[in-house]
Amino acid sequence: VHWTAEEKAAINAVWKKVDLEHDGGDALGRLLLVYPWTQRYFSSFGSLSNAAAIAGNAKVQAHGKKVLGALDNAAHHLDTVKATLHDLSDSHAHRLHVDPENFRRFGEVFVIVLAGKLGSSFSPPVQAAIEKFFAVVVDGLSHEYH
Ligand code: HEM
Repeated sequence: VHWTAEEKAAINAVWKKVDLEHDGGDALGRLLLVYPWTQRYFSSFGSLSNAAAIAGNAKVQAHGKKVLGALDNAAHHLDTVKATLHDLSDSHAHRLHVDPENFRRFGEVFVIVLAGKLGSSFSPPVQAAIEKFFAVVVDGLSHEYH
């Protein structure tokens, strides 16, 4: 992947505003509510039956934080995202059996969380850079499936 200086700057600027404690849980909560069939991967998480149950589920928050930690690592290694995500691609493909289409959906809900937080500073060029970041992340996570 080639990143322009503007794309890297946009990703770094957005990433500084990401709340590593909460934004991952918020995005995962949206994924579970908007695409309820994704709940099947998290049967050990307890009740996910409605918006309040999902928002108040400590396991969703904790797991979202873990996912965001991996994205944070990728955001800090933009030139080596594929290698950075190699082991996670392997575990999601061969141990967790997650349909890789769900990675794309997670990117989509994460963009919505960011847009809600950042308001007007989430400009079209910033969105474009973040969408590209997620495309590269999804590609990296999907790599061990092919
Ligand atoms: C576990 C990252 C998306 C399902 C994990 C872990 C990380 C992670 C760091 C913990 C380490 C491990 O168990 O290997 C990511 C990233 C994603 C992503 C960066 C970016 C899009 C998804 C999606 C699903 C999913 C979309 C399902 C819809 C799971 C499951 C586990 C897991 C079921 C094991 C949970 C447990 O029982 O502890 N993921 N993940 N992941 N992920 Fe993902």
